[in-house]
Amino acid sequence: MKIILNIQRFNPDTDTGPYFQEYGVEADPNERLLDALMRIKRFQDGSLGFRKSCAHGVCGSDAMRINGRDGLACKTLVKDVVEKEGETITVEPLRYLPVQRDLIVDQKPFFTKYRFIKPYLINDEEVEGKERLQSPEERMVFDDTTNCILCAACYSACPVLGEKRGFVGPAAIAQAFRFIADSRDRGRDERLQLLDNKTGVWPCQNHFKCTEACPRSILITKRINQTKELIKKHQR
Ligand code: SF4
Ligand code: FES
Repeated sequence: MKIILNIQRFNPDTDTGPYFQEYGVEADPNERLLDALMRIKRFQDGSLGFRKSCAHGVCGSDAMRINGRDGLACKTLVKDVVEKEGETITVEPLRYLPVQRDLIVDQKPFFTKYRFIKPYLINDEEVEGKERLQSPEERMVFDDTTNCILCAACYSACPVLGEKRGFVGPAAIAQAFRFIADSRDRGRDERLQLLDNKTGVWPCQNHFKCTEACPRSILITKRINQTKELIKKHQR
């Protein structure tokens, strides 16, 4: 069927600001939005800029806003966002990150906040035996958070970031929880301290938009609330 993609364009070398451009494209309802974007780029307009790599929901590079909701173009089927022939899909870059070109954003602010929470195992104790052991039950406490692909869909979906740009954001807190809750880690107090302030966990108002946007079904809001509870228990 024929659909219309209404895509936000911006070339910093030639444009004074972003604008929308429409492309008519043939698409199968069971195709992914990424397929339609690729067809436009190959056969209609090679200047269209967007990121993609794996095309299978693993690398996190093609997160964008699709009809006002954040997600991966490679995990969004055409039939999920249009109902019938001739309908329009609006495609925009992720919010709160500087646009470099068209749908490509500069992810540096997102990764700076991610690094801030020390997203790695902290433990300088001697290892007994060959490795630090963990039971399946201990692992399940934070298992979903290990699936993060750092796509930043949750970051763009978060209404709080629209008002408080300094907020560390949902992905960073979920990743902080990933290590705080890890029985092998010893950096809990340090990370809880980093998040116990007005740019840490407290601006979160439980909108659940991050959880809805996450293509990896991570229970982000729940993990944020658990982190708040740990701060109350251990720091105050
Ligand atoms: S928590 Fe989910 S939405 Fe957020 S960066 Fe990770 S995978 Fe993407
Ligand atoms: S292209 Fe890798 S997640 Fe979509």
